Amino acid sequence: MARNELILSDVTKRFGGLTAVDALSLKVEEGQIYGVIGPNGAGKTTVFNCITGIYKSEEGSVNWRGEEIRGLTPYQIVDRGIVRTFQTIRLFSQMSVAENIMSGRHIKSSQKLWHGIIHTAASRRDELFNWHKVEEQLDFFDLGEFAATPTGSLPYGIQRRVEMARALAVEPTLLILDEPAAGLNDKETLELLETIFKIRGKGVTVLLIEHDMDMVMEMTDYLAVINFGKLIAEGTPAEIQQNPAVIEAYLGSEDDDDE
Ligand SMILES: Nc1ncnc2c1ncn2[C@@H]1O[C@H](COP(=O)(O)OP(=O)(O)O)[C@@H](O)[C@H]1O
Ligand SMILES: [Mg+2]
Repeated sequence: MARNELILSDVTKRFGGLTAVDALSLKVEEGQIYGVIGPNGAGKTTVFNCITGIYKSEEGSVNWRGEEIRGLTPYQIVDRGIVRTFQTIRLFSQMSVAENIMSGRHIKSSQKLWHGIIHTAASRRDELFNWHKVEEQLDFFDLGEFAATPTGSLPYGIQRRVEMARALAVEPTLLILDEPAAGLNDKETLELLETIFKIRGKGVTVLLIEHDMDMVMEMTDYLAVINFGKLIAEGTPAEIQQNPAVIEAYLGSEDDDDE
């Protein structure tokens, strides 16, 4: 049986008088594609920020494989195998695709920065190994032909892939994606779906926020629906589609999040 990897218990995050996340609890199991949905402003990104150490929730617990990680720094959380992408693409647009992926490797080996500065034989070995890992990602994400291309000049769908390749280069156990299909056309969304299935196929657990309902229903194993920072429903996509509270809060309303 799959074990729980990530358990949020009563997580609360406030901004001044606003409770962005309100006593939220959820459980993500190993190997799942777990979706978080909810209207714009529901608190989805804030939850992810509480998991990845951007914010520390005022209350509650964030447990990762038996360890309390609430309050750890983003780097410490990456070290534990939790890696994310952002709602808006954050790549070095002047840098090549390969260099962007390499930057993921550098996050992983940042503690060895010293070696890099003094150019030891060990650092050269590391660098060679890192380039080998970058090549693996270029292959896996079918990005080889763009390896030397400045990322900023590529279509959006490909930039998304580069972002995921960079995240995977960190060799995560849990990959967190904030609206990966935002701004993609239908064909790119379909490719993204395949890519995410492929990532899961490597044994990586995937936690994602997504606005594209068709995509969410097709790809997730389990869904949490949040509204005003609270969990209003959870279950399989089929269960969620029939949940009256969800239909009322979310599925019934047309809501465009294009941030
Ligand atoms: N850094 C911040 N400071 C103040 N308010 C914030 C901050 N980040 C998010 N919020 C507010 O918290 C609520 C939830 O935001 P967010 O998590 O971004 O929602 P979602 O990702 O579901 O669209 C919103 O009302 C938003 O304005
Ligand atoms: Mg958001």
